[in-house]
Amino acid sequence: MLSAIARNAATQPSRMASRAFVSTWNNVPQGPPDAILGVTEAFKKDTDPRKMNLGVGAYRDDNGKPYVLECVKKAEAILLEKGLDKEYAGITGIPDFNKAAAALAYGEDSAVIAENRLAVTQSISGTGALNIGANFLNNFYPHTKSIMVPNPTWGNHNAIFSRAGLKVEKYGYFDKQTNGLNINAMLEDIKAAPKNTAILLHACAHNPTGVDPTKEQWDEIAQVIKDRDHFAFFDMAYQGFASGDCTKDAYALRKFVSDGQQVVLSQSFAKNMGLYGERVGSFSVICADADEKARVDSQLKILIRPMYSNPPIHGARLVSTVLNTPELKQQWLDEVKLMADRIITMRTKLRNHLEQDFGSKKDWQHITNQIGMFCFSGMTPEQVDQIKNDWHVYLTRDGRISMAGISSGNVKYLAEAIHNVTKD
Ligand SMILES: Cc1ncc(COP(=O)(O)O)c(C=O)c1O
Repeated sequence: MLSAIARNAATQPSRMASRAFVSTWNNVPQGPPDAILGVTEAFKKDTDPRKMNLGVGAYRDDNGKPYVLECVKKAEAILLEKGLDKEYAGITGIPDFNKAAAALAYGEDSAVIAENRLAVTQSISGTGALNIGANFLNNFYPHTKSIMVPNPTWGNHNAIFSRAGLKVEKYGYFDKQTNGLNINAMLEDIKAAPKNTAILLHACAHNPTGVDPTKEQWDEIAQVIKDRDHFAFFDMAYQGFASGDCTKDAYALRKFVSDGQQVVLSQSFAKNMGLYGERVGSFSVICADADEKARVDSQLKILIRPMYSNPPIHGARLVSTVLNTPELKQQWLDEVKLMADRIITMRTKLRNHLEQDFGSKKDWQHITNQIGMFCFSGMTPEQVDQIKNDWHVYLTRDGRISMAGISSGNVKYLAEAIHNVTKD
């Protein structure tokens, strides 16, 4: 039996239908798709079996499959065995995780840790750490409300810093002629910036270019930043991924710190521990002493509390278990090297196929000179469109290739595709 209300609704035109319906959200404009996630969308729709996704910066094994590290699987088993509760973490996260993350970045014997003057908080991966840092600078950096980032840089940097209220300026970085570092432009722009400028530096494995300064160049950069009383904000999303060695990849950060520079640091465990979806990272601030650290800690808490209250626990427990269990830590270091080495091997193979099998006359040295997850190939936006349409190879229009998407099975095909779209 229909109720009276239901009968009325079924037989009489509703008031809503009798006047033009205007949604509350009628004025919301369509936004552009995210450059990288848009590539994946297009890739998914392609039914060609040869298709390749070189857009997203996530590691794949040599079969093109996502890779869960063995040390992480073991840590997961240990956690399961412990039967831990699911209570909230504190606002700044899990203390054992924070300690281990800081030691990994700054070094086990770091003076700033020993002297209890490093303020550290867990974060929602690297993106969350950058957001905390951007807001912290906006609230407390006494000299300016702006930050200089390399040109180019990871696209999200601009959005994160400007949303936090900082003006984003650029310094020269990439040299299109050589597909390498334009160290002169970088040093000149940094020198020319007003004193006390905040400067964002990719600690290693620069995204999107794959171009890092050498040790000597880092020394020069550190000196200029010190001479100009600038302030370094390090983003370290790929520790271990560049060279396969976590200590080597921390060179720049540790150089600045040993020079007495009061840097801040954003860290991510997405790439180097394969914990992309766990969202585990950290943000840290070097303070003058323990008293200043306590004050900075208190302000970090005040910033974080309304953002997300406290961070997720599982990923941080995993990292903490791996880093604080000697056998697992060693296994992790080996696995980081394995991932980095696979990428380095793909660089060599790609270049060899281009030059030797397909006889490309272009200069491809940058493929093997560049480092980390990405290769800034030098392909033009038109060539990127062509390689997508004719060869089913998907990458961002700036020509950035995610090297982790290449495997022994498809590297030759990719070389053939690149050769065909780049030959004159
Ligand atoms: C330079 C750089 N910083 C930070 C991140 C942050 O990544 P996540 O938030 O996944 O840790 C990335 C990820 O691609 C990156 O390339």
